[in-house]
Amino acid sequence: MTGPLLQTHALRAHYGDFQALFGVDIALSQGETVAIIGANGAGKTTLLRSIAGVLRNEPGAVRFDGADIGALAADAVVKLGLTMVPEGRRLFPSLSVEENLLIGAQGRKAPGYWTLKTVYALFPILAEKRRVPGTSLSGGQQQMVAIGRALMSNPRVLLCDELSLGLAPVVIRDIYAALPQIRDSGASVIVVEQDIGQAMKVADRVYCLMEGRVTLSGPPADLSRDAIHDAYFGTAA
Ligand SMILES: Nc1ncnc2c1ncn2[C@@H]1O[C@H](COP(=O)(O)OP(=O)(O)OP(=O)(O)O)[C@@H](O)[C@H]1O
Ligand SMILES: [Mg+2]
Repeated sequence: MTGPLLQTHALRAHYGDFQALFGVDIALSQGETVAIIGANGAGKTTLLRSIAGVLRNEPGAVRFDGADIGALAADAVVKLGLTMVPEGRRLFPSLSVEENLLIGAQGRKAPGYWTLKTVYALFPILAEKRRVPGTSLSGGQQQMVAIGRALMSNPRVLLCDELSLGLAPVVIRDIYAALPQIRDSGASVIVVEQDIGQAMKVADRVYCLMEGRVTLSGPPADLSRDAIHDAYFGTAA
């Protein structure tokens, strides 16, 4: 295959009469980690939801592995190998850590690197806590369960929404330390991140969204602090 693994083209998204995305073009190559940054309400979650098929798209707006997937429903998108780690973790309260992880394996019956064993090797604390309710864990541990649950589908593309939200810096470091191993497993990754420094550290390329539009993109080394500031907050008039 030539060209990007995943691509949006003039992607628009609406909530009723409200338009949240205005023609967004992003691309993700095989093996790449791309970060989406932007302020509250910029449209970052909406972009992930559109890619994941939670929101329906116009024909041609989302292409994956050469195919138009814009019209597919979320469960069909997961079966193709695009899996989201949702904002706010969304664990099933009545299920144990292990049961939450096993739910992820139901989305896509793809053999691959990720099993209970490899997820527990990635996050050893989850092995210790496997029998307790997922929602009794700390915020950081719940985030690990949410990531592990998504990995259990052996995704080709992992879509992560604000992994660091509400977590202490030391916990954020532990979570992001898992990323290289996730990349080595063959997954390409999109991370949505409000923490610009964190995004710059992990990403091969960054897109900044503001009010539903891409205002800046490129490899972190090419983006100046001023350019990022303007793209993130808007230039003062
Ligand atoms: N379910 C919804 N119904 C109506 N409007 C929505 C809905 N979800 C999001 N919006 C609006 O769409 C815009 C983009 O929201 P979105 O959640 O994608 O932003 P975000 O960049 O993820 O923000 P945050 O950093 O706060 O998570 C915002 O103006 C938001 O108020
Ligand atoms: Mg969001």
